[in-house]
Amino acid sequence: MSERIFIGVAWPYANGPLHLGHIAGAYLPADIFARYHRLKGNRVLMVSGSDQHGAPITIRAEQESTTPQNVVDKYHKQFVDCWEKLGISFDLFTTTGTSNHSQVVHDIFLTLLDRGYIYKDKMLQAYCPKCQRFLPDRYLQGTCPHCGFTKARGDECDECGKPLNPWELKDLHCYLCSTAPRFESSEHFFLRLSSFQDKLTAWIKEQTHWREHVLSTTWKFLGEGLKDRAITRDLDWGVVVPQPGFERKRIYVWFEAVIGYLSASKEWAKSQGDDDAWKAFWEGDARSFYFIGKDNIFFHTLIWPAMLMGYDGLNLPYDVPANEFLTIEGKKLSTSRGWAIWLHDYLERYEPDPLRYALAANMPESGDSDFSWHEFLRRNNNELVATYGNLAHRILTFAYRNFEGAVPAPGELDEHSQGLIHKAQATLDAVNNLLYRCEFKEAVKEAMSLAQEANRYLDEQAPWKTIKTERETATKPTYTILSVLAALKTIFYPFLPFSSERLHSFLGFDGSLKEAGWKVQFLPPGQRLRQPQPLFVKLDEDIVAKESSRLAP
Ligand code: MF3
Ligand code: ZN
Repeated sequence: MSERIFIGVAWPYANGPLHLGHIAGAYLPADIFARYHRLKGNRVLMVSGSDQHGAPITIRAEQESTTPQNVVDKYHKQFVDCWEKLGISFDLFTTTGTSNHSQVVHDIFLTLLDRGYIYKDKMLQAYCPKCQRFLPDRYLQGTCPHCGFTKARGDECDECGKPLNPWELKDLHCYLCSTAPRFESSEHFFLRLSSFQDKLTAWIKEQTHWREHVLSTTWKFLGEGLKDRAITRDLDWGVVVPQPGFERKRIYVWFEAVIGYLSASKEWAKSQGDDDAWKAFWEGDARSFYFIGKDNIFFHTLIWPAMLMGYDGLNLPYDVPANEFLTIEGKKLSTSRGWAIWLHDYLERYEPDPLRYALAANMPESGDSDFSWHEFLRRNNNELVATYGNLAHRILTFAYRNFEGAVPAPGELDEHSQGLIHKAQATLDAVNNLLYRCEFKEAVKEAMSLAQEANRYLDEQAPWKTIKTERETATKPTYTILSVLAALKTIFYPFLPFSSERLHSFLGFDGSLKEAGWKVQFLPPGQRLRQPQPLFVKLDEDIVAKESSRLAP
């Protein structure tokens, strides 16, 4: 029976370009997972969008002397373009600026208010006397009370990752002018997170299938005791608060951004001409997966589930396979210091699949992992070109030339050849089990090991030698390898969608591989092949030096 899989992917702030940390952290694993499930014939809804509110956007607008909306429009467009080029196959990538989003946020806000999960109270809000304005948490800087980091922000410490309230910081000052702010009392709404402590604890206990680091981070927060959190701010950029007296305040970005998963699902449903179509992905035995970076765990394993529990009737996350961080050339990625590789830059110079492969093969699933140009080159040249690409190209050109451009009839296959074909099926099954459990790194390794084994077999058989004397003998390995390729194109499809589609076509299959299903597709003898082209291109050694020099010192 076909499953229903909801895939929510972290909403990137539309305040700057995407970098490889974003891609390895959330977008690539989500896309691999979505493509895999679609190929299996499951129904998938994968959504996300630009997170267009919050201090990251307004700070950027101030830096560029422009409006927040201009900042958002510019980067949203760039995001959509990048998804297209990298093959990140969203069913919808929207923004938090739509009226649909506001409506859905208001519905949840008012329902929680009605049920007493949201209440009004007074809160001290930082006010900068020099700038003459209220300061959002991110405009505040100070020393973290937990780890002593001196550049902690008012909402969270970048060093130890703990969520913070501004008044907890020592040496608190305005990020814009360094003046110490004064606190003024202001009315705000609070989410009664404390009242979900027991329910969340019981629920988290059941999530034994989650990644260890996701569970341990979540337990740490639970262990400290959940505190109520302010969910409105003195701001003018954001979703309005649907209550009188709050005209000059807005809903806090994190409270509304996570609701984006639901509002985007509803927007998608409307675009399908069936307003209720979202329900299939949010109710009953549909399962929801949230792909995020580890810095967002708290919001996805505790806050969003608490909101859903309070709202009632919609599915809680089934899994939150958060990834850890990607370092670049051995150093912590930092956009402010220019130590980052920008996705749009990469896509201007290289093909999408080699990046997808390099990041998947080294995905930061259970610990931080490193991206280096040297390793990228090695993976491209040794694994994609010399192993997989070479296997495909050798046998496709050989068959195309020697068997009148068609798949030869092999006669009865010997044990060795049959063994390899069985291994192809076994690899598909192994990759299936790994992808089902979101173990991407291991899955891609399995796939490549099949290509390696097929290469060894082909070297041994050397049909290009036997063809001259015993044409019959040459048909067996030719057919066998073509069959293994018919498996590899599918096994690799979630990781390498572009090259898989091309291989599908070179092998003479019609239509898109997307429609072929998750199975080793039988290759009928006699099927006409198409003129083969290399699947991957070898990259020159000198890109390592060139690309490394683009990184800031
Ligand atoms: N914009 C946030 C970030 O980049 C992520 C928001 S994820 C969401 O860290 F679910 F809240 F939208
Ligand atoms: Zn100031």
